[in-house]
Amino acid sequence: MVTLATTPEFGSLRSDDDHWDIVSGVGYTALLVAGWRALHAVSAQPLVRDEYAKHFIAASEDPYLAGVLANPGTSDDETAFPRLYGVQTRFFDDFFAAAGEAGIRQAVIVAAGLDSRAYRLDWPDGTTVFEVDLPKVLEFKTRVLGEHGAAPKARRSEVAADLRTDWPTPLKAAGFDPQSPSAWSVEGLLPYLTDDAQTALFTRITELCAPGSRVAVGALGSRLDRDQLDTVEATHPGVNKSGNVDFSALTYETKTDPAQWLAAHGWAVEPVRNTLDLQAGYGMTPPEVDVKIDGFMRSQYITATR
Ligand SMILES: C[S@@+](CC[C@H](N)C(=O)[O-])C[C@H]1O[C@@H](n2cnc3c(N)ncnc32)[C@H](O)[C@@H]1O
Repeated sequence: MVTLATTPEFGSLRSDDDHWDIVSGVGYTALLVAGWRALHAVSAQPLVRDEYAKHFIAASEDPYLAGVLANPGTSDDETAFPRLYGVQTRFFDDFFAAAGEAGIRQAVIVAAGLDSRAYRLDWPDGTTVFEVDLPKVLEFKTRVLGEHGAAPKARRSEVAADLRTDWPTPLKAAGFDPQSPSAWSVEGLLPYLTDDAQTALFTRITELCAPGSRVAVGALGSRLDRDQLDTVEATHPGVNKSGNVDFSALTYETKTDPAQWLAAHGWAVEPVRNTLDLQAGYGMTPPEVDVKIDGFMRSQYITATR
């Protein structure tokens, strides 16, 4: 267990071939953000309702997140991340809806974690949703949703693979067609990849994208500095308090600018928005930005077309 008094180096718990389940290492972050979505679902006037998220917390038997869900707080500090995740979830939901309306029938959710969009969104007939993540993460999700009788609303295809390796091969083996347009979400992943791994990821995505393909990227916290992370860890639920997760030591301090990279590699990039821009677009009055989570509230949301 890491105490708040320590200041671990970025990425110090990581290695190039580390792996995890849902309650260890990077895997726990998938549970954590599911917890924030579950909290958002029970907040006043939620932007989106992920009714599946709470099942993952219950099944994990994680005492910390179960406790937070049993007693959702109402202070600005306690609601900041659930609010942020409501906004982020809506952004990616809208992105896939627009891609479907444009006729795209292949969706790829990289680092899918406990994303339940395959079960939650109304996908057009003929859509396949590919979910890429490590095997134990996908196994947990499928098991828990199966136990609750949930059924995907599209053809759902699991691609158990490490995004630092040759994941396009198993993706294609699962039926992905690089000749047809596709829509990709990169949500909550970048801080867990080195600069080289981020470049490799975007290069591979680009190679798999036929003209007309789209990508949405949340550059959440990928450009936070040390001080911001320390403050966030010390003040926000679920981050470095359970003893199971140490956010700083799981993430890398990187310099990759995804919007710039995409623009330089054949993508038409829409004007980049931050969390506050998105909130305003959803009719929410942006709250005053708490300086402690300023980096997160100003994280970038990018949409681009090939
Ligand atoms: C913060 S969670 C986000 C999950 C999901 N996108 C969401 O927003 O709910 C980070 C996810 O990235 C996945 N991940 C990180 N590095 C990965 C890698 N190298 N290969 C596959 N998955 C990875 C983790 O397993 C985890 O599910």
